[in-house]
Amino acid sequence: MPIADKIKREMTASTYTARAAEDSQALQEKYGRDKVFDLSVSNPVIEPPPEFVKELRTFVDLPQDGKHRYMENAGYTGNRMMVAEQLKRDTGINFSMAEVIITCGAAGALNIIFKGLFNPGEELIAFAPLYPEYIPYVENYFGVCKVVPAGKDFLPDLKALEAAITSRTKGVIINSPNNPTGLVYSEATLKELAAVLVRKGTEFKTTIYAISDETYFKVAFDGKKCPRMFNYYPNTISLTSYSGELSTSGERAGYAAIHPDCEGGKEVFGALIHANRTLGFINCPALMQNVVRRLPDTSMYLNDYQRKRNYLFGKLVGMGYKVVKPAGGFFMLVKSPIEDDKAFVSELKNQLIITVPGSEFQAPGYFRVSYCVEDQALEGAMAGFQKTLAIFK
Ligand SMILES: Cc1ncc(COP(=O)(O)O)c(C=O)c1O
Repeated sequence: MPIADKIKREMTASTYTARAAEDSQALQEKYGRDKVFDLSVSNPVIEPPPEFVKELRTFVDLPQDGKHRYMENAGYTGNRMMVAEQLKRDTGINFSMAEVIITCGAAGALNIIFKGLFNPGEELIAFAPLYPEYIPYVENYFGVCKVVPAGKDFLPDLKALEAAITSRTKGVIINSPNNPTGLVYSEATLKELAAVLVRKGTEFKTTIYAISDETYFKVAFDGKKCPRMFNYYPNTISLTSYSGELSTSGERAGYAAIHPDCEGGKEVFGALIHANRTLGFINCPALMQNVVRRLPDTSMYLNDYQRKRNYLFGKLVGMGYKVVKPAGGFFMLVKSPIEDDKAFVSELKNQLIITVPGSEFQAPGYFRVSYCVEDQALEGAMAGFQKTLAIFK
Protein backbone atom coordinates (compact mmCIF):
# COMPACT_ATOMS: atom_id res chain seq x y z
CA MET A 1 0.00 0.00 0.00
CA PRO A 2 1.46 3.39 -0.92
CA ILE A 3 0.20 5.18 2.20
CA ALA A 4 0.94 4.71 5.89
CA ASP A 5 -1.30 2.29 7.84
CA LYS A 6 -1.92 4.88 10.55
CA ILE A 7 -3.22 7.44 8.07
CA LYS A 8 -5.37 4.84 6.37
CA ARG A 9 -6.91 3.89 9.76
CA GLU A 10 -7.57 7.51 10.66
CA MET A 11 -9.09 8.26 7.28
CA THR A 12 -11.56 5.39 7.52
CA ALA A 13 -12.32 5.69 11.24
CA SER A 14 -13.66 9.20 11.48
CA THR A 15 -13.84 12.46 9.59
CA TYR A 16 -17.63 12.76 9.60
CA THR A 17 -16.99 16.48 9.94
CA ALA A 18 -14.99 16.49 6.70
CA ARG A 19 -17.73 14.47 5.00
CA ALA A 20 -20.35 16.87 6.39
CA ALA A 21 -18.73 19.73 4.47
CA GLU A 22 -18.81 17.66 1.26
CA ASP A 23 -22.43 16.59 1.89
CA SER A 24 -23.37 20.19 2.47
CA GLN A 25 -21.65 21.30 -0.73
CA ALA A 26 -23.30 18.57 -2.79
CA LEU A 27 -26.75 19.38 -1.38
CA GLN A 28 -26.25 23.09 -2.00
CA GLU A 29 -25.36 22.42 -5.63
CA LYS A 30 -28.48 20.27 -6.00
CA TYR A 31 -31.07 22.31 -4.07
CA GLY A 32 -29.58 25.84 -3.87
CA ARG A 33 -27.55 27.48 -1.14
CA ASP A 34 -30.48 28.97 0.75
CA LYS A 35 -32.31 25.62 0.98
CA VAL A 36 -29.50 23.82 2.84
CA PHE A 37 -28.89 24.48 6.55
CA ASP A 38 -25.33 23.57 7.40
CA LEU A 39 -25.11 23.44 11.19
CA SER A 40 -22.03 21.22 11.20
CA VAL A 41 -19.42 23.93 10.84
CA SER A 42 -16.87 25.13 13.36
CA ASN A 43 -15.92 27.94 11.03
CA PRO A 44 -17.49 31.17 12.30
CA VAL A 45 -19.47 32.74 9.47
CA ILE A 46 -19.45 36.27 10.87
CA GLU A 47 -16.92 38.30 8.89
CA PRO A 48 -13.79 39.60 10.66
CA PRO A 49 -14.29 43.00 12.33
CA PRO A 50 -13.59 46.11 10.17
CA GLU A 51 -10.53 46.87 12.34
CA PHE A 52 -8.98 43.60 11.12
CA VAL A 53 -9.32 44.55 7.47
CA LYS A 54 -8.06 48.06 8.20
CA GLU A 55 -4.93 46.81 10.00
CA LEU A 56 -4.30 44.30 7.24
CA ARG A 57 -4.34 47.07 4.61
CA THR A 58 -2.19 49.36 6.75
CA PHE A 59 0.40 46.67 7.29
CA VAL A 60 0.56 45.66 3.64
CA ASP A 61 1.28 49.28 2.66
CA LEU A 62 3.77 49.93 5.44
CA PRO A 63 7.15 50.94 3.99
CA GLN A 64 9.25 48.66 6.16
CA ASP A 65 12.03 46.29 5.13
CA GLY A 66 11.96 42.69 6.30
CA LYS A 67 8.31 42.50 7.19
CA HIS A 68 7.85 39.27 5.22
CA ARG A 69 10.98 37.52 6.51
CA TYR A 70 11.48 34.72 9.02
CA MET A 71 11.43 35.79 12.65
CA GLU A 72 12.42 34.02 15.89
CA ASN A 73 10.77 30.59 16.08
CA ALA A 74 8.82 31.59 19.20
CA GLY A 75 7.20 34.40 17.21
CA TYR A 76 7.61 38.19 17.24
CA THR A 77 8.69 39.67 20.56
CA GLY A 78 5.87 42.23 20.38
CA ASN A 79 3.20 39.52 20.06
CA ARG A 80 4.65 37.48 22.90
CA MET A 81 4.82 40.56 25.13
CA MET A 82 1.23 41.43 24.30
CA VAL A 83 -0.01 37.92 25.13
CA ALA A 84 2.02 37.86 28.37
CA GLU A 85 0.42 41.18 29.39
CA GLN A 86 -3.06 39.84 28.65
CA LEU A 87 -2.40 36.67 30.64
CA LYS A 88 -0.98 38.68 33.54
CA ARG A 89 -4.02 40.95 33.59
CA ASP A 90 -6.42 38.06 33.38
CA THR A 91 -4.86 35.61 35.84
CA GLY A 92 -2.85 37.84 38.17
CA ILE A 93 0.14 35.55 37.47
CA ASN A 94 3.45 37.12 36.52
CA PHE A 95 3.71 35.91 32.90
CA SER A 96 6.51 37.18 30.66
CA MET A 97 7.22 36.65 26.98
CA ALA A 98 9.59 33.83 27.99
CA GLU A 99 6.50 31.67 28.50
CA VAL A 100 4.66 32.45 25.26
CA ILE A 101 5.02 30.91 21.80
CA ILE A 102 3.05 32.16 18.81
CA THR A 103 1.64 29.24 16.84
CA CYS A 104 -0.25 28.26 13.72
CA GLY A 105 -3.61 28.34 15.50
CA ALA A 106 -4.73 26.18 18.39
CA ALA A 107 -4.19 23.10 16.24
CA GLY A 108 -0.53 24.02 15.72
CA ALA A 109 -0.19 24.69 19.45
CA LEU A 110 -1.63 21.26 20.33
CA ASN A 111 0.84 19.60 17.97
CA ILE A 112 3.91 21.36 19.33
CA ILE A 113 2.80 20.65 22.92
CA PHE A 114 2.32 16.95 22.20
CA LYS A 115 5.55 16.70 20.20
CA GLY A 116 7.44 18.60 22.87
CA LEU A 117 6.17 16.51 25.81
CA PHE A 118 5.38 12.96 24.76
CA ASN A 119 7.65 9.94 24.51
CA PRO A 120 6.26 6.92 22.65
CA GLY A 121 3.68 5.13 24.82
CA GLU A 122 3.14 8.01 27.25
CA GLU A 123 -0.50 8.77 27.90
CA LEU A 124 -2.71 11.76 27.36
CA ILE A 125 -6.00 11.59 29.24
CA ALA A 126 -9.01 13.33 27.71
CA PHE A 127 -12.61 13.51 28.88
CA ALA A 128 -15.51 12.44 26.68
CA PRO A 129 -17.14 14.15 24.89
CA LEU A 130 -14.01 15.50 23.25
CA TYR A 131 -12.63 17.35 20.25
CA PRO A 132 -11.76 14.27 18.18
CA GLU A 133 -8.50 15.61 16.74
CA TYR A 134 -6.77 15.18 20.12
CA ILE A 135 -6.43 11.48 19.33
CA PRO A 136 -4.60 11.64 15.97
CA TYR A 137 -2.63 14.67 17.14
CA VAL A 138 -1.10 12.89 20.14
CA GLU A 139 -0.66 9.71 18.09
CA ASN A 140 1.38 11.79 15.62
CA TYR A 141 4.11 11.62 18.28
CA PHE A 142 3.37 8.03 19.35
CA GLY A 143 1.55 9.10 22.50
CA VAL A 144 -1.59 7.24 23.53
CA CYS A 145 -4.91 9.00 24.12
CA LYS A 146 -6.97 7.45 26.92
CA VAL A 147 -10.53 8.73 26.96
CA VAL A 148 -12.32 8.87 30.32
CA PRO A 149 -16.07 8.30 29.73
CA ALA A 150 -18.42 11.24 30.15
CA GLY A 151 -19.34 12.05 33.72
CA LYS A 152 -22.64 13.31 35.12
CA ASP A 153 -24.02 16.13 32.99
CA PHE A 154 -20.94 15.81 30.72
CA LEU A 155 -18.61 17.35 33.29
CA PRO A 156 -15.23 15.68 33.93
CA ASP A 157 -15.58 12.52 36.04
CA LEU A 158 -12.73 13.06 38.47
CA LYS A 159 -13.02 9.66 40.14
CA ALA A 160 -12.64 8.04 36.74
CA LEU A 161 -9.71 10.36 36.04
CA GLU A 162 -8.02 9.29 39.27
CA ALA A 163 -8.46 5.63 38.31
CA ALA A 164 -7.17 6.22 34.76
CA ILE A 165 -3.88 7.92 35.70
CA THR A 166 -0.84 5.67 35.61
CA SER A 167 2.91 6.17 35.87
CA ARG A 168 2.88 6.71 32.08
CA THR A 169 0.41 9.63 32.20
CA LYS A 170 2.15 12.72 30.86
CA GLY A 171 -0.82 15.03 30.47
CA VAL A 172 -4.52 15.59 30.97
CA ILE A 173 -6.31 17.75 28.44
CA ILE A 174 -9.31 19.88 29.32
CA ASN A 175 -11.39 22.09 27.05
CA SER A 176 -13.60 24.80 28.53
CA PRO A 177 -15.82 26.18 27.03
CA ASN A 178 -16.13 22.77 25.53
CA ASN A 179 -16.49 21.53 22.00
CA PRO A 180 -19.04 19.88 21.60
CA THR A 181 -21.05 20.60 24.80
CA GLY A 182 -20.47 24.35 25.33
CA LEU A 183 -20.06 23.64 29.05
CA VAL A 184 -17.74 25.85 31.10
CA TYR A 185 -15.86 24.10 33.92
CA SER A 186 -16.33 25.79 37.30
CA GLU A 187 -13.57 26.90 39.65
CA ALA A 188 -14.53 24.01 41.94
CA THR A 189 -14.08 21.47 39.11
CA LEU A 190 -10.68 22.90 38.16
CA LYS A 191 -9.55 22.94 41.81
CA GLU A 192 -10.58 19.32 42.31
CA LEU A 193 -8.93 18.34 39.05
CA ALA A 194 -5.72 20.04 40.19
CA ALA A 195 -5.89 18.16 43.50
CA VAL A 196 -6.15 14.84 41.62
CA LEU A 197 -3.11 15.72 39.47
CA VAL A 198 -1.07 16.70 42.54
CA ARG A 199 -2.10 13.52 44.40
CA LYS A 200 -1.37 11.15 41.52
CA GLY A 201 1.85 12.96 40.56
CA THR A 202 3.06 12.53 44.15
CA GLU A 203 2.03 8.87 44.17
CA PHE A 204 3.86 8.08 40.91
CA LYS A 205 6.66 10.64 41.43
CA THR A 206 5.84 12.15 38.04
CA THR A 207 4.83 15.54 36.70
CA ILE A 208 1.40 15.42 35.11
CA TYR A 209 0.82 18.43 32.87
CA ALA A 210 -2.60 19.99 32.51
CA ILE A 211 -3.08 21.01 28.89
CA SER A 212 -5.82 23.58 28.82
CA ASP A 213 -7.45 24.03 25.41
CA GLU A 214 -8.85 27.56 25.67
CA THR A 215 -9.88 27.91 22.04
CA TYR A 216 -13.32 29.26 23.08
CA PHE A 217 -12.13 31.06 26.22
CA LYS A 218 -13.48 34.45 25.17
CA VAL A 219 -16.88 33.05 24.21
CA ALA A 220 -18.45 32.81 27.67
CA PHE A 221 -22.10 33.90 27.90
CA ASP A 222 -24.37 35.63 30.40
CA GLY A 223 -21.65 38.02 31.59
CA LYS A 224 -19.64 35.19 33.15
CA LYS A 225 -15.89 34.76 32.98
CA CYS A 226 -14.38 31.43 32.18
CA PRO A 227 -12.14 30.16 35.05
CA ARG A 228 -8.60 29.25 33.98
CA MET A 229 -6.56 26.21 34.97
CA PHE A 230 -3.50 28.48 35.36
CA ASN A 231 -5.02 29.80 38.60
CA TYR A 232 -5.25 26.36 40.19
CA TYR A 233 -2.32 24.31 38.94
CA PRO A 234 1.19 25.51 38.05
CA ASN A 235 2.03 22.61 35.73
CA THR A 236 -0.37 24.03 33.16
CA ILE A 237 0.20 24.75 29.49
CA SER A 238 -2.62 26.58 27.76
CA LEU A 239 -3.36 27.15 24.09
CA THR A 240 -5.80 29.14 22.06
CA SER A 241 -6.26 30.78 18.68
CA TYR A 242 -7.59 33.96 17.12
CA SER A 243 -9.98 31.95 14.92
CA GLY A 244 -13.10 32.72 16.98
CA GLU A 245 -12.01 36.06 18.41
CA LEU A 246 -11.39 37.62 14.99
CA SER A 247 -13.33 35.16 12.79
CA THR A 248 -10.10 34.27 11.02
CA SER A 249 -9.85 30.47 11.26
CA GLY A 250 -8.23 30.25 7.82
CA GLU A 251 -5.41 32.58 8.84
CA ARG A 252 -3.89 30.19 11.40
CA ALA A 253 -2.81 32.41 14.29
CA GLY A 254 -2.75 31.34 17.94
CA TYR A 255 -0.44 30.77 20.86
CA ALA A 256 0.67 28.41 23.62
CA ALA A 257 1.62 29.63 27.10
CA ILE A 258 3.41 27.88 29.95
CA HIS A 259 2.78 28.78 33.61
CA PRO A 260 5.86 30.66 34.95
CA ASP A 261 6.09 28.17 37.86
CA CYS A 262 5.67 25.06 35.71
CA GLU A 263 8.10 22.24 36.58
CA GLY A 264 10.71 22.07 33.85
CA GLY A 265 9.03 25.09 32.27
CA LYS A 266 12.19 26.45 30.61
CA GLU A 267 12.94 23.09 29.02
CA VAL A 268 9.32 22.73 27.90
CA PHE A 269 9.50 26.20 26.35
CA GLY A 270 12.64 25.23 24.39
CA ALA A 271 11.06 21.96 23.28
CA LEU A 272 7.93 23.70 22.03
CA ILE A 273 9.96 26.21 20.01
CA HIS A 274 11.99 23.38 18.52
CA ALA A 275 8.80 21.47 17.67
CA ASN A 276 7.33 24.59 16.04
CA ARG A 277 10.32 24.67 13.72
CA THR A 278 10.74 20.98 12.97
CA LEU A 279 7.07 20.23 12.35
CA GLY A 280 7.36 22.35 9.28
CA PHE A 281 5.19 25.24 10.47
CA ILE A 282 8.38 27.27 11.05
CA ASN A 283 6.20 30.15 12.26
CA CYS A 284 2.74 31.52 12.37
CA PRO A 285 2.72 33.71 9.22
CA ALA A 286 4.40 37.11 9.69
CA LEU A 287 1.45 38.95 8.19
CA MET A 288 -1.03 37.52 10.70
CA GLN A 289 1.25 38.07 13.67
CA ASN A 290 1.57 41.70 12.65
CA VAL A 291 -2.17 42.15 12.32
CA VAL A 292 -3.30 40.39 15.53
CA ARG A 293 -0.67 42.34 17.50
CA ARG A 294 -2.36 45.55 16.43
CA LEU A 295 -5.75 44.31 17.67
CA PRO A 296 -5.13 43.40 21.31
CA ASP A 297 -8.56 44.24 22.65
CA THR A 298 -10.84 43.87 19.68
CA SER A 299 -14.08 42.63 21.09
CA MET A 300 -15.46 39.58 19.41
CA TYR A 301 -19.07 39.04 18.46
CA LEU A 302 -20.05 37.71 21.87
CA ASN A 303 -23.52 39.23 21.87
CA ASP A 304 -24.28 37.77 18.44
CA TYR A 305 -23.25 34.28 19.51
CA GLN A 306 -25.23 34.57 22.73
CA ARG A 307 -28.31 35.65 20.77
CA LYS A 308 -27.87 32.70 18.39
CA ARG A 309 -27.46 30.31 21.33
CA ASN A 310 -30.60 31.67 22.97
CA TYR A 311 -32.60 31.33 19.77
CA LEU A 312 -31.50 27.77 19.01
CA PHE A 313 -31.80 26.56 22.60
CA GLY A 314 -35.24 28.12 23.05
CA LYS A 315 -36.57 26.71 19.80
CA LEU A 316 -35.24 23.16 20.21
CA VAL A 317 -36.35 22.88 23.84
CA GLY A 318 -39.75 24.30 22.84
CA MET A 319 -40.14 21.51 20.26
CA GLY A 320 -39.33 18.87 22.86
CA TYR A 321 -35.64 18.18 22.20
CA LYS A 322 -33.42 17.61 25.24
CA VAL A 323 -30.48 19.98 25.02
CA VAL A 324 -27.34 20.54 27.10
CA LYS A 325 -27.41 24.32 27.57
CA PRO A 326 -24.09 25.83 26.47
CA ALA A 327 -22.50 28.43 28.74
CA GLY A 328 -20.03 29.33 26.00
CA GLY A 329 -18.47 28.34 22.69
CA PHE A 330 -20.10 27.70 19.33
CA PHE A 331 -21.86 24.36 19.80
CA MET A 332 -24.83 22.66 21.39
CA LEU A 333 -25.17 18.96 22.18
CA VAL A 334 -28.69 17.67 21.64
CA LYS A 335 -30.07 14.28 22.71
CA SER A 336 -31.02 12.19 19.73
CA PRO A 337 -34.67 11.10 20.03
CA ILE A 338 -33.50 7.65 18.91
CA GLU A 339 -30.54 5.70 20.22
CA ASP A 340 -28.72 5.72 16.89
CA ASP A 341 -27.42 9.28 16.56
CA LYS A 342 -26.02 8.59 13.07
CA ALA A 343 -29.46 7.47 11.86
CA PHE A 344 -31.04 10.61 13.32
CA VAL A 345 -28.41 12.83 11.70
CA SER A 346 -29.24 11.10 8.38
CA GLU A 347 -32.94 11.89 8.90
CA LEU A 348 -32.04 15.52 9.51
CA LYS A 349 -30.04 15.44 6.30
CA ASN A 350 -33.20 14.39 4.47
CA GLN A 351 -34.56 17.75 5.63
CA LEU A 352 -31.36 19.39 4.29
CA ILE A 353 -30.03 20.02 7.81
CA ILE A 354 -26.40 19.05 8.34
CA THR A 355 -25.27 18.25 11.91
CA VAL A 356 -22.61 15.96 13.38
CA PRO A 357 -23.37 12.70 15.25
CA GLY A 358 -22.30 12.72 18.91
CA SER A 359 -20.39 9.47 18.34
CA GLU A 360 -17.77 11.58 16.54
CA PHE A 361 -17.05 13.18 19.93
CA GLN A 362 -17.56 9.97 21.94
CA ALA A 363 -21.05 11.10 22.95
CA PRO A 364 -23.22 8.45 21.27
CA GLY A 365 -26.96 9.09 21.43
CA TYR A 366 -26.45 12.83 20.93
CA PHE A 367 -25.74 15.11 17.99
CA ARG A 368 -23.90 18.44 17.74
CA VAL A 369 -25.46 21.57 16.34
CA SER A 370 -23.28 24.57 15.56
CA TYR A 371 -24.65 28.10 16.00
CA CYS A 372 -21.65 30.04 14.65
CA VAL A 373 -23.71 30.22 11.46
CA GLU A 374 -25.93 32.77 9.74
CA ASP A 375 -29.30 33.53 11.35
CA GLN A 376 -31.07 32.39 8.17
CA ALA A 377 -29.49 28.94 8.52
CA LEU A 378 -30.75 28.59 12.10
CA GLU A 379 -34.19 29.95 11.32
CA GLY A 380 -34.49 27.93 8.12
CA ALA A 381 -33.63 24.68 9.89
CA MET A 382 -36.40 24.90 12.49
CA ALA A 383 -39.20 23.42 10.36
CA GLY A 384 -36.95 20.44 9.51
CA PHE A 385 -36.05 19.86 13.17
CA GLN A 386 -39.76 19.81 14.02
CA LYS A 387 -40.62 17.42 11.17
CA THR A 388 -37.79 15.03 11.97
CA LEU A 389 -38.75 14.88 15.64
CA ALA A 390 -42.36 14.15 14.67
CA ILE A 391 -41.25 11.03 12.72
CA PHE A 392 -40.06 9.42 15.95
CA LYS A 393 -42.81 10.56 18.35
C1 LIG B 1 -11.60 22.39 21.00
C2 LIG B 1 -10.83 22.84 19.83
N1 LIG B 1 -9.48 22.91 19.91
C3 LIG B 1 -8.74 23.31 18.87
C4 LIG B 1 -9.32 23.65 17.66
C5 LIG B 1 -8.46 24.11 16.52
O1 LIG B 1 -8.62 25.50 16.41
P1 LIG B 1 -7.87 26.38 15.27
O2 LIG B 1 -8.47 25.97 13.97
O3 LIG B 1 -8.21 27.77 15.63
O4 LIG B 1 -6.45 26.04 15.32
C6 LIG B 1 -10.72 23.60 17.52
C7 LIG B 1 -11.37 23.95 16.23
O5 LIG B 1 -12.51 23.68 15.97
C8 LIG B 1 -11.49 23.17 18.63
O6 LIG B 1 -12.81 23.10 18.56
